[in-house]
Amino acid sequence: MEFSTFASLSFLLVTLSSMCNMEARVHHHKHKHQADHHSSGSISYISAPPTLSPEPSSSPNPGIAAPAPAPVDGAYPDRVVLDVRGFGAVGDGLTDDTNAFKMAWDAACQKNGSAVMILVPKGFTFMIQSTIFTGPCQPGLVFQVDGTISPPDGPEAWPEKNSRRQWLVFYRVNDMSLVGGGAFDGRGHKWWDLPCKPHKVAINGTKPHGPCDSPIAIRFFMSSNLSVERIRVKDSPQFNFRFDNCKNVHIESIHITAPALSPNTDGIHIENSNGVGIYNSVISNGDDCVSIGAGSYDVDIRNVTCGPSHGISIGSLGNHNSRACVSNITVRDSMIRASDNGVRIKTWQGGSGAVSGITFSNIHMDTVRNPIIIDQFYCLTKDCDNQTSAVHVSDVVYENIKGTYDVRSPPIHFGCSDTVPCTNLTLSDVELLPAKGDVVADPFCWNAYGDLETLTIPPVSCLMEGAPARSSPAADVVDRCL
Ligand SMILES: *[C@@H]1O[C@H](CO)[C@@H](O)[C@H](O)[C@H]1NC(C)=O
Ligand SMILES: *[C@@H]1O[C@H](CO)[C@@H](O)[C@H](O)[C@H]1NC(C)=O
Ligand SMILES: *[C@@H]1O[C@H](CO)[C@@H](O)[C@H](O)[C@H]1NC(C)=O
Ligand SMILES: *[C@@H]1O[C@H](CO)[C@@H](O)[C@H](O)[C@H]1NC(C)=O
Ligand SMILES: *[C@@H]1O[C@H](CO)[C@@H](O)[C@H](O)[C@H]1NC(C)=O
Ligand SMILES: *[C@@H]1O[C@H](CO)[C@@H](O)[C@H](O)[C@H]1NC(C)=O
Ligand SMILES: *[C@@H]1O[C@H](CO)[C@@H](O)[C@H](O)[C@H]1NC(C)=O
Repeated sequence: MEFSTFASLSFLLVTLSSMCNMEARVHHHKHKHQADHHSSGSISYISAPPTLSPEPSSSPNPGIAAPAPAPVDGAYPDRVVLDVRGFGAVGDGLTDDTNAFKMAWDAACQKNGSAVMILVPKGFTFMIQSTIFTGPCQPGLVFQVDGTISPPDGPEAWPEKNSRRQWLVFYRVNDMSLVGGGAFDGRGHKWWDLPCKPHKVAINGTKPHGPCDSPIAIRFFMSSNLSVERIRVKDSPQFNFRFDNCKNVHIESIHITAPALSPNTDGIHIENSNGVGIYNSVISNGDDCVSIGAGSYDVDIRNVTCGPSHGISIGSLGNHNSRACVSNITVRDSMIRASDNGVRIKTWQGGSGAVSGITFSNIHMDTVRNPIIIDQFYCLTKDCDNQTSAVHVSDVVYENIKGTYDVRSPPIHFGCSDTVPCTNLTLSDVELLPAKGDVVADPFCWNAYGDLETLTIPPVSCLMEGAPARSSPAADVVDRCL
């Protein structure tokens, strides 16, 4: 998320207000939001959705389940199957099937006590507009995507009244599975080509202005006990998945693709979420493979293949002097290839809070530009102000990280804050060799403390042993997020 990092508050506000604007059927009301660590402002929340009033529809059997085909793999027996075609969806890739999906969703969310599956059948492409699927629903809801779901094609086809920051949102949903062998085709090309995008060349030294928002393909917001399995997402206009304010998320065997030069197409972004597992998945895209933002903890990533991508990132954190707490993140048994970064922690200057308890274990690098990097001077322009505060980085383990790097940058880079050193970085079994050519740059450290448990290749002689002196001024100001 190199470009579109916003203060979480503004994101929340803008997103919530756009949710309110676009979903006219949903009533909303305001109530005071008690001060959390972001704000004490007044935020409008959306109430639980009312049942959809019946709408004019060409649906043959509005609101009634289609003749239930048995689920393809029989994995969900005993479920009432709601085929979206039974609600009028056409699936020719052109017809607007949004209402049919909303009706199927509302039917599935009725409290009948029976477990339900929404079926998006194979062999069809359903075009649906930006939509918020609001819970709560029956626990155990399965959203089975065997066909293809796609949005309108690009910014010009996107209705003015719809949010341009998100396409499909699952909001206040608990205990749901999004599964299937089908795909979400985000049709991102026209969005990536907007002249304001970061990869577009400046004309006469200035970038053209204009709206630059592009929708996140699939967003889960304030939801819990989620499972996302076997889903494919391609060519998202922006992030492919974003989980914010979610709890207990299991992501398994998903496949994300977008071109290496597509801007801001982070694979999976996690923010203010905990208990997230990402397993056995393959991601190639134009930005971070997985990015982990403020307020995330207990994240387990295993057997993920990334690349081309910008690697697996914690951050960016501390933007606009914000407080960020990220802890207990494990990335293991994974592969990163043809990427700008491997495993990265990135923070802006300024800010407070801590990143701690991070383990990167058994990771294979193949031609990665910065395989191991901590960057506490993250800055997208060239003129970020120097600041004294920083998010504290500590207790980071790098073990069994092997493979090759692109010699344009040092393979190991620990660029820690001037005033708040990184502490307790440990390296063992690190072996990184040039993919081709000769070693040109040694590991780089700035204000980084830690230990080498085994010899590393290349040798890291710049890491300072032990802990910074207790008298260090930073010791008193560090906010450990305890
Ligand atoms: C729930 O019950 C209502 C009324 O009995 C029925 O019309 C509806 O189809 C049921 N929905 C599901 C998902 O079974
Ligand atoms: C760029 O500047 C040149 C010279 O000032 C001018 O002729 C040209 O029209 C400008 N191009 C654009 C796209 O503004
Ligand atoms: C999530 O699942 C856990 C464990 O099964 C359960 O205890 C909890 O109540 C669930 N939470 C919600 C909001 O459904
Ligand atoms: C790792 O993930 C890949 C891709 O999903 C899968 O094919 C492979 O079986 C997984 N390996 C293990 C050990 O689970
Ligand atoms: C760290 O996160 C994992 C899940 O990824 C969880 O099982 C474990 O209990 C957490 N550890 C601590 C100390 O909270
Ligand atoms: C920040 O500090 C660096 C190193 O001391 C210095 O080179 C740079 O000019 C400073 N940047 C600003 C914007 O003050
Ligand atoms: C250093 O980090 C490791 C791994 O997180 C942790 O187990 C250990 O307790 C830390 N050491 C100190 C002195 O904090």
